[in-house]
Formats: sequence, structure tokens, C-alpha cells
Amino acid sequence: MAHIIVDEDRCTGCGLCVKMCSSGIISLADESNIPQVQDENVSHCFYCGHCEAFCPSQVLILNFLTDEKITLPSDVGNISPEDVAFYLKKRRSVRHFSEEPVPKEKILEVLDIARYAASGGNGQPVQWLVIYDPEEVKKIAGLTIEWMKHLINTDHPMSGYVPMLISAWEQGIDVICRGAPHLLFAHIPENNQIAPIDATIALTHFDIAAPAFGIGTCWAGFVAAAAMSYEPLQKELDLPAGRKSAYAMMFGNPQYKVYGIPRRKPLEVTWK
Ligand SMILES: Cc1cc2nc3c(=O)[nH]c(=O)nc-3n(C[C@H](O)[C@H](O)[C@H](O)COP(=O)(O)O)c2cc1C
Repeated sequence: MAHIIVDEDRCTGCGLCVKMCSSGIISLADESNIPQVQDENVSHCFYCGHCEAFCPSQVLILNFLTDEKITLPSDVGNISPEDVAFYLKKRRSVRHFSEEPVPKEKILEVLDIARYAASGGNGQPVQWLVIYDPEEVKKIAGLTIEWMKHLINTDHPMSGYVPMLISAWEQGIDVICRGAPHLLFAHIPENNQIAPIDATIALTHFDIAAPAFGIGTCWAGFVAAAAMSYEPLQKELDLPAGRKSAYAMMFGNPQYKVYGIPRRKPLEVTWK
């Protein structure tokens, strides 16, 4: 089976695929200039897809999940720097949600975008658990509070801080999941050192893409910390064997609109 499929009639032999191949395994055939991968080099491919993505005439297909290949329309993705700046700067953590659930199809659309996030060695180790049922979200928030109770009078860095959160929770204020209807966990293989970074990047993509779909998000640091060590919560999540939670994010339909951009620390850059 050919590793790359090339429409030989339309290939111009420009060789850009050779240049773009992260593993350096594509070469041009001697006479035809048609790109090829020698069988002995196939195992060096990590399926980044740059060969097909950068092909100017879109005539090369990496022979892997071929039906998923997307050719970009020529005018797509031309967002002005000003629009990108405003879009990213107006991203805010949302802590007030309406009770209206986010349709599952919409959640899948945003998660599908996060599939394209960068990952070390194109490992794509991130998978998702969506806690869709608001009652289950509340249960997880409750378990996080239970975990916090174990931290009091220990040398855990949060031990001085948790009594305040526990007291608020006991007064009926959801300081853990902020009344969000849904909770997202990015989970990763237990023994993969780079996967926690991959998960953060994938969650960041979700965080950034979500507002374009009208979804509000907030990183769920307390839940994430509890999920890393508190067994009753881990049991509740019941992740597939060999996988652990990397981080969590609450989300739902925002109750309020953002009208301004808050001030931030000035930029600090060192040049060498
Ligand atoms: C790793 C991480 C964990 C966070 N955990 C929580 C959390 O548990 N609860 C919460 O209300 N906000 C949480 N936040 C949101 C931050 O408080 C928020 O990003 C920060 O105040 C800046 O506000 P902005 O996101 O609107 O710019 C977290 C943010 C990050 C990046």
C-alpha cells in the first residue's frame, strides 16, 4: 500500500512536500519528480499531515484516514490581526451560566476543533470525558469539597485556603463549578510525560473556540486538583483503564455578555 497517494497527472513536482516532511522521508522519483516514500522509511512517519496540507496543488494524500482530508478554500482563515486580537482579548472566564444545556452536537463541534491542537510527536494522546448531566457536575463539585476537607491541617499548599471554600459551599454557594451545567475532563495515558502539556493545549483550543459557538468556559482548577489524587472522585469519573485526568473545564451558556477588556500586566520581553 502506497504511503502517500499522488495524482501524478496534476503533481507539478515542486518538491514542497519533501521540504515540509517533518521526518524527511519523502523524496522525488528520479525522472518523474513524483513524490514517494521508500518502504523502509514508512515507520518514521508520524502522520503530521504536513505533506498534504502544504501541497500547493492539493494533489497529495497521506494514505491514512483519507476520507478526512480537508482542502482549504482559498479565502478561508483570513482573519485580520485586529479581529484575532479582539477575539482573544475578549475571552473571559465565565462563572455565571444559564440553566439551558449546551446541545451535544455543539459540544462535539468544539471538541472536533480541539482534535487539531498541537501534540508532542503528533501523539494526540488526549481523550475527553464530558459530564453532561448537571446533577453529576454537582456531585463532582461535592466530592471536590470532600477532598478539600482532607487538606485542612496538612502541609498542602491549599490547606489555609480551603476552609473558606468549604464554608461557602455549606452556605449553598457553588465555588467549585460555579453552577456550570457541564464539565469537561481531558484525560491522558498514565505514563506519558508530555501528555499533560498536550492536554493543556487541547483544552486551550476548546477554551478559545467555545465562545465562537456561544459557549462560556472556565478552567476548573479545584476539580482538576482533586481528580489527580482523590480516589473517590477518580472512581466517580471511572476513566478507561490506564488513563488519568489531566485537567478540567466547566462550561455552559453564559448568563452575561462581556462589554470590555480588563487591564493586564504590561508586556515584559527580553531580547537577546
Ligand atoms: C489553570 C487554571 C485553573 C483555574 N481554576 C479556576 C477555578 O477552579 N475556578 C475559577 O473560578 N477560575 C479558575 N481559573 C480562572 C482564572 O481565575 C482566570 O483565568 C483568571 O482570573 C483571569 O481571568 P480571565 O480568564 O477572564 O482572563 C483557572 C484558570 C487557570 C488557567
